[in-house]
Amino acid sequence: MRFYLAPLEGITGYIYRNALHDFYGEGIDKYFMPFLAPHTKRSFNAKEKNDILPEHNKGMYTVPQVLTNSAKDFLRIEKDLRAFGYEEININLGCPSGTVVSKGRGAGFLAEPEKLDQFLEEVFTKTEAKISLKTRIGFDEPEEFYRLLEIYNKYPLKELIIHPRVRQELYKGKPHLETFCYAMEHSTNPLCYNGDIVSKESYVNLLAELGNKEVPAVMIGRGVLKNPALISELAEMPGIKAGVGLEKEKLRAFHDRLLADYQSVLSGDKNVLFKMKELWSYLIELFPGAEKEAKAIRKTERLSEYQAVVNRVFMD
Ligand SMILES: Cc1cc2nc3c(=O)[nH]c(=O)nc-3n(C[C@H](O)[C@H](O)[C@H](O)COP(=O)(O)O)c2cc1C
Repeated sequence: MRFYLAPLEGITGYIYRNALHDFYGEGIDKYFMPFLAPHTKRSFNAKEKNDILPEHNKGMYTVPQVLTNSAKDFLRIEKDLRAFGYEEININLGCPSGTVVSKGRGAGFLAEPEKLDQFLEEVFTKTEAKISLKTRIGFDEPEEFYRLLEIYNKYPLKELIIHPRVRQELYKGKPHLETFCYAMEHSTNPLCYNGDIVSKESYVNLLAELGNKEVPAVMIGRGVLKNPALISELAEMPGIKAGVGLEKEKLRAFHDRLLADYQSVLSGDKNVLFKMKELWSYLIELFPGAEKEAKAIRKTERLSEYQAVVNRVFMD
């Protein structure tokens, strides 16, 4: 089994990816970058460039992701990414956000399968990169996936990463595992499963529900935010690979590294706290009974106050 870090816009930027790699990178085979949307005038803005720069991705296999429905724009950004040394690029066909979908991008592209087919046709005629897709199974209904898979099967994908929900479900309800099983039987491309792996138990249950058939790879997002050691814990399971578990001191050091790195690139307490608060909205689940501290973290406006609450969380 191969394990991938999912792209999480606003969270898994290069600061997070580097800290994760240094502390809990054992077992993580690929790091997917949050999406890049092509600009009309310039190639990348300063934030995007920082995420892409090879010196910010040392020692990690990083895959940039592009969000577009224009083959021309994709091929332009592909060229720019290749100039930085990237040979594998992922296309986002899953983003459910209203502003993205209304422009026919992300999961919005799935509502126009014939247009999507034309887009892929043009991309695959001209691309020099290895292309993977990260897709939902439809816009309104899981049954849309039959047609989508017919289209995907026409192209030599590096990987087909499936989050088995439709756009309208956002991240709610149980993933449609039967649709992923259909893909396992009918996809001509290598598959990767993504969605709701948050613990060893959910991982084992998932594999059982998929009939313990060989899945080449899984991608994990929120589960890693909740427990950064999750992939190394899963990779440690018998027959897979050696890894490490979660220890309090190490988690504290991981937290402190993230805080220091955000402080070094962001100006003002407010911006740093915004990042750390978002992270705590996931991490806090590791600290049952810390509801009071969770609230205090959400409310804090100064880094000194924040540090004091975090000290309490780790001490208790
Ligand atoms: C805050 C947030 C940001 C996300 N950003 C992206 C993104 O940039 N590109 C993408 O393909 N998916 C994005 N996703 C979806 C995740 O990559 C992933 O598919 C989803 O969270 C389900 O996997 P999980 O249950 O392991 O988290 C985002 C999800 C969340 C919650």
